[in-house]
Amino acid sequence: MYFCYNLYESGIISSSIVSSNYILDLEIAVYVIEMAEDNNVSSTSENPNSDESETSIDAIAQKVQVSKRHKFWETQPVGQFKDLGNPSLPEGPIEPPTPLSEVKQEPYNLPVPYEWITCDMDTEEMCSEVYNLLANNYVEDDENMFRFNYSKDFLQWALRPPGYHTSWHIGVRVKASKKLVAFITGVPARIRAKDAVVNMAEINFLCVHKKLRSKRLAPVMIKEVTRRVHLENIWQAAYTAGVVLPTPISTCQYWHRSLNPKKLIDVGFSRLGARMTMSRTIKLYKLPDSSITPGFRKMELRDVPAVTRLLRGYLKQFIVAPDLDEHDVQHWLLPKEDVIDSFLVESSGVTDFCSFYTLPSTVIGNQNYSTLKAAYSYYNVSTKTPLLQLMNDALIVAKKKGYDVFNALDVMENESFLKELKFGPGDGQLQYYLYNYRLNQALRPSELGLVLL
Ligand SMILES: CC(C)(COP(=O)(O)OP(=O)(O)OC[C@H]1O[C@@H](n2cnc3c(N)ncnc32)[C@H](O)[C@@H]1OP(=O)(O)O)[C@@H](O)C(=O)NCCC(=O)NCCS
Repeated sequence: MYFCYNLYESGIISSSIVSSNYILDLEIAVYVIEMAEDNNVSSTSENPNSDESETSIDAIAQKVQVSKRHKFWETQPVGQFKDLGNPSLPEGPIEPPTPLSEVKQEPYNLPVPYEWITCDMDTEEMCSEVYNLLANNYVEDDENMFRFNYSKDFLQWALRPPGYHTSWHIGVRVKASKKLVAFITGVPARIRAKDAVVNMAEINFLCVHKKLRSKRLAPVMIKEVTRRVHLENIWQAAYTAGVVLPTPISTCQYWHRSLNPKKLIDVGFSRLGARMTMSRTIKLYKLPDSSITPGFRKMELRDVPAVTRLLRGYLKQFIVAPDLDEHDVQHWLLPKEDVIDSFLVESSGVTDFCSFYTLPSTVIGNQNYSTLKAAYSYYNVSTKTPLLQLMNDALIVAKKKGYDVFNALDVMENESFLKELKFGPGDGQLQYYLYNYRLNQALRPSELGLVLL
């Protein structure tokens, strides 16, 4: 996962948003244009505001990005930048499975002071160790103001879905002190890419202690989790990252909806818009006290079959989406306090569904606040209630439950409600990847039906 946070101006969702990534992109683009001009590549600077020049800047910046060497990823069965747009390469697995007897039986070598461990997330002790490693070393925003703070309950939920393998929850310890210094996980998932339903691993929570960064430990972690996934006869994986690696199947963006604008402004998550006062901003984001749609209620165990049917029907329209059965739905969508919330609309059957998961962030070094409580849009289906109204109800219940901000990616049909419900665009982008599986087209976010935690 990647921390997508943006200092957007409360109340003014416009192109005047300044984010560090945006500035960086522009710097790259300007540098590249200068290089291009030096090399007599047709100049884009004559009309820097034209759409054509925008496209060229994007294209050139993209080239700079893809020309960066990736010593590790270039050796892996993933789409390579040099193959972009090559229609002769077949869709599907890049490499065939190898016989299980040929899969390396011993773990990869670690530098001498370290040892592999398998993390049994059932035990409170192990769970606490993992929680502490991530709470202190996992994803931060560019300005190091916030850091993801996945709760222990969340980690147990995220890592123990139906059919999970404890061997895919991998830690690295310092032999001498036994301190946990790195972590990576996989969980099994059936993911459909076009017409093929593929058994995959969803890889998440890659983390190396801050003091051990840039020592090429991450590639060893990735190779080890891959080996253990192979040992279960699984050959594909899905993952997301804020960084651009070879090669995203899609690039998505987070949007943020203020629920508690005063706190968001106080902690520096957002700032007061031009010509806005705090009281106008609070009024702008005010929500009703209770949901509006008749029949809107919390999902219960008895709803699992109906919700599964609804979701399965809905997810068919996307090019990449999970293939969820009732066991999956019970695990991933049945409400769990402060982990996953799900609501549905019942009016002669279940017609609509919405859900969000809970992922707080630590506010780093703030006198008044230690945590930002964020809800993340998960899977939503509307067949009868307009999606806009359904998501407005989701905002209302999230506000009522004390969340400060509601986040959503621009995946599935989310774009249809983001602006109208006063979400502002986030900083940076989230790329989606498949391991050992080629798609011959980059997907628009709206063609993706998958949310990873
Ligand atoms: C991500 C993290 C584990 C990488 O470790 P690191 O010490 O910075 O990098 P290393 O020297 O060990 O390895 C570098 C290699 O890992 C790759 N890499 C870095 N981040 C990656 C990611 N999120 N996913 C996959 N590969 C990644 C790099 O691209 C590089 O490979 P390349 O040469 O082929 O490009 C570490 O920075 C970290 O813990 N960050 C905070 C948590 C985080 O961002 N996790 C990832 C969430 S998506």
